Amino acid sequence: MERLLQKRFGKFSLILFAMLFSVQVSFAQDIPTDEATVKQGGEMFKEMCVVCHNVDSKKIGPALHNVYERRDLPWIIKFVQNSQKVIQSGDEYAVKLYSEYNNTAMSTFDYLSDEEVTSIVAYIKHETENPTVAAAAEVADGETVAVTENAGVPSAYMTAILVGLAIVLALILGILFLMVSMFNKFLKTKEGLTGDEESFINDKFSPLKLLKSPGFMGIIIFLFTAFAFKATIDGLYNIGIQQGYEPTQPIAYSHKLHAGDLGIDCNYCHTGVTKAKNANIPSLNICMNCHSDVKNLQGKDGVSPEIQKIYDALGGYDPVTKEYGDGPKTPIEWTRVHNLPDLVYFNHKQHVKVGGLECQTCHGPIEEMEVVKQEENLTMGWCIDCHRKTDVNTQGNAYYDDMVKFHEKDHKDKMKVEDIGGLECSKCHY
Ligand code: HEC
Ligand code: HEC
Ligand code: HEC
Ligand code: HEC
Ligand code: HEC
Ligand code: HEC
Repeated sequence: MERLLQKRFGKFSLILFAMLFSVQVSFAQDIPTDEATVKQGGEMFKEMCVVCHNVDSKKIGPALHNVYERRDLPWIIKFVQNSQKVIQSGDEYAVKLYSEYNNTAMSTFDYLSDEEVTSIVAYIKHETENPTVAAAAEVADGETVAVTENAGVPSAYMTAILVGLAIVLALILGILFLMVSMFNKFLKTKEGLTGDEESFINDKFSPLKLLKSPGFMGIIIFLFTAFAFKATIDGLYNIGIQQGYEPTQPIAYSHKLHAGDLGIDCNYCHTGVTKAKNANIPSLNICMNCHSDVKNLQGKDGVSPEIQKIYDALGGYDPVTKEYGDGPKTPIEWTRVHNLPDLVYFNHKQHVKVGGLECQTCHGPIEEMEVVKQEENLTMGWCIDCHRKTDVNTQGNAYYDDMVKFHEKDHKDKMKVEDIGGLECSKCHY
């Protein structure tokens, strides 16, 4: 009897185990693993989620790795499509998470189908399980051209050199004075000097006399004129150049916060940068991808006055009802910072996409700036200088293959931008 019970129980537990196992399997089966789905999900993730989420670390929202183990797929789908609805339904987990993230509302994605959200989760699962692959791919993607360091003498060195020279001059003067006084002493001990010689030796050094001497006055006048001349020339060269220009903008939008702390990709807002001549300043619709919900810093109550400006410009938007008013629409008038004269042709795609240059090479550390500032002088000399020094990014660009072969025949160093016509007037001037 006992044995029978044991056997039964054994069978029972086996069935229980099998049932559990099958649930487990069906759970896992919900998330596809095929390459096409993962790829599609990856693209959507980068387009819509990456501004607030990383897979492996916290950003504006939580790290998403393993999220498919924390929550089941139907929950995730509902939450992604409309997180506020899930929170308002009183879902304990969602309410807790929401307050943990300072009541920062996630954007709604009600236009995504269940399959689309599933593919994003498939991507997240793939990334959770193969994190190194992604990291390595990113490194390969991010390959850029090395720009040779500025060869000119930096101004800090220049100052050091000048100070050094002044010290050396002072030392030489000191030694000369010492020699003169020693020589005088020596002469005084001599006997049989004429009256003239005697008075010359006793003649004391007087600074006043020196100041009045024509030689000294000449030097001073020469230095003064040279200095004034140089200042005028510098001034003339700088007409129309606005290096360091840092205008206050109509909304206190901060690149340090958005591109730096939040890590939003430059392309997310400046959509033209890899596709067109102009980088584009984003329209307020792009801001509203987040600011339809994000109303102020750290999720405080009420709407910050700076965000209110966005809502007003869109004809009055109410973040509570999520409805747009019918007031007049007034585009924000951002003050332009960088501005080349009309006679110059400059193309972002050519430099960023084809040339593989980083934004920071020309714009400085934008991701650290509260207010954008023009770092470089944007003169013709600046463009030419870089074209002389920079290697052409020929890797993976079949267009350059023949040119490189030709170039390597009679040149030892790598092909520079000047070798492909980067110094021709007509390339930069209409
Ligand atoms: C505007 C920023 C923002 C965007 C864009 C965003 N999220 Fe979120 N997400 C959040 C925040 C903040 C939370 C934390 C919960 C909350 O505050 O509502 C969150 C939570 C989540 C959660 C729950 C995480 C957990 O630990 O349980 C999932 C899943 C999620 N997001 C998926 C997505 C997906 C998928 C996308 C892209 C389609 C996306 N999110 C886009 C901000 C965002
Ligand atoms: C969230 C959107 C957003 C992101 C992300 C963003 N920018 Fe901007 N950017 C703007 C807005 C809005 C302006 C216009 C207001 C201003 O100058 O601050 C601007 C202005 C600029 C300007 C000056 C344009 C001019 O008038 O000459 C440069 C240069 C620039 N951004 C570069 C960058 C770089 C580089 C990055 C990435 C590190 C970046 N931006 C990321 C929104 C963005
Ligand atoms: C990817 C999401 C995202 C986009 C796109 C975005 N922002 Fe923000 N922004 C935020 C978040 C999140 C905060 C608040 C950060 C915090 O709480 O610390 C913020 C804060 C701000 C603030 C400060 C708010 C305050 O209380 O003072 C301003 C101003 C602002 N954003 C303007 C803009 C403008 C203008 C654009 C469009 C050019 C823009 N943002 C685009 C996410 C975004
Ligand atoms: C080779 C130098 C160079 C690089 C690299 C570069 N820029 Fe620019 N950028 C310029 C110049 C020069 C201007 C002024 C263009 C004009 O006035 O026509 C400019 C202007 C801009 C503007 C003002 C709007 C416009 O299109 O004129 C924005 C925004 C901008 N850049 C963003 C970026 C971003 C984002 C990147 C990186 C993805 C980048 N730039 C990379 C040189 C560069
Ligand atoms: C930081 C370095 C850098 C600066 C600064 C720079 N460029 Fe360039 N430029 C490049 C590189 C690299 C290429 C080659 C891109 C390619 O492979 O086609 C290039 C290519 C070009 C071309 C195409 C040349 C050709 O023969 O196809 C033009 C036109 C041009 N730049 C204009 C400008 C102008 C105008 C400026 C100044 C406002 C400027 N560049 C500043 C690096 C620079
Ligand atoms: C790599 C790009 C580039 C090339 C090549 C180039 N220029 Fe320029 N040039 C510029 C830029 C940028 C400016 C505007 C500088 C400024 O605003 O100070 C400029 C300004 C000028 C101006 C001054 C216009 C004024 O209003 O002051 C003249 C003249 C000029 N270029 C002639 C030439 C001639 C001639 C050649 C051929 C030998 C040439 N450029 C080749 C980029 C270039």
